[in-house]
Amino acid sequence: MKICVMPGDGIGPEIVEQGLNVLNVIGEKFGHTFETEEVLIGGAAIDAKGVPLPDETVEACKAADAVLLGAVGGPKWDTIDPSIRPERGLLGIRKALGLFANLRPASLFPQLKDACFLRPDIVEKGIDVMVVRELTGGIYFGEPKGEGEKDGQKYGFNTMVYYEEEIRRIAKIAFETARKRKKRVCSVDKANVLDVSRVWRAIVIEVSKEYPDVELTHLYVDNAAMQLVRDPSQFDVIVTGNLFGDILSDEASVITGSIGMLPSASVGAANPGIFEPIHGSAPDIAGEDKANPLATILSIAMMLRYAFNLDKEAECIEAAVEKTLSSGLRTGDIMDEGGTLVGCKAMGEAVIKNL
Ligand code: IPM
Ligand code: MG
Repeated sequence: MKICVMPGDGIGPEIVEQGLNVLNVIGEKFGHTFETEEVLIGGAAIDAKGVPLPDETVEACKAADAVLLGAVGGPKWDTIDPSIRPERGLLGIRKALGLFANLRPASLFPQLKDACFLRPDIVEKGIDVMVVRELTGGIYFGEPKGEGEKDGQKYGFNTMVYYEEEIRRIAKIAFETARKRKKRVCSVDKANVLDVSRVWRAIVIEVSKEYPDVELTHLYVDNAAMQLVRDPSQFDVIVTGNLFGDILSDEASVITGSIGMLPSASVGAANPGIFEPIHGSAPDIAGEDKANPLATILSIAMMLRYAFNLDKEAECIEAAVEKTLSSGLRTGDIMDEGGTLVGCKAMGEAVIKNL
């Protein structure tokens, strides 16, 4: 199994290192060989090659069976020409591989109940949400876009556009995903204001007819943002466009205690998927051995499950993470009363001991 590895920027390299250590031990334990190749993306690629997504990175990803990504971006590249910002690398590789579906599960580890920001009576009802975010369309990629100047005023604009086929295929993924869960899909849009959302809603309703066993509801994005903190237990699968999904998945993740815990999978029809933590590059703690490697380690579990159909191996990792949390070890982002503060490396090593 060939895995293309893109550590990226900030805490990317340190969390990816822990993830790969876990993967290697899984390989030894279960008798698999994982071949890894490291390539450049984001700021690291800009520094070395002048662009955030070198051609050889795209080629290497296409030739692999799965891709592991750390994180991209940082203040060092904030003032660079926007067309070659580190984030362009990430958007570019998603697009190049046709990874239109971003699966972002947000569930609460019982061990982290005390790290959760919500009231105990809300937490008690549980949090297990899967955000299915459209990833290669919408306002992130819509044309026309740009910046200009008119009547002495600067302006900027983007286009939020969705084609029927783009909506149809992401809706299908959401309904299929719901079938393996609690059979509920909530489609999130802004159909009271946006034309693009009215088309979105109509197509989702059309697709839902093929899934009579799955319940479909709709929420406007502002209401959805509120409901997520008011009572997250009402959600099973949330399906939404690129921008709304970006925002809601951060929100869904942090109510579980920390954005440092959550993995994600980006998948498409043909090419290998990208597996990555949903958090960013956290430049403020980069290189200090403070980052939480668990989201990356759990992304490895998602990779084993989705890319390689290795369910047992994935469960082994997830159980080891739970056991590590039960033993009280905590990185700074999930620290609670009675927890033992550890660094990125020690957390990774503890997971390996518990595999
Ligand atoms: C994410 C990130 C990216 C996005 C950025 C870094 C381009 O926020 O994966 O959620 O907006 O998709
Ligand atoms: Mg985001």
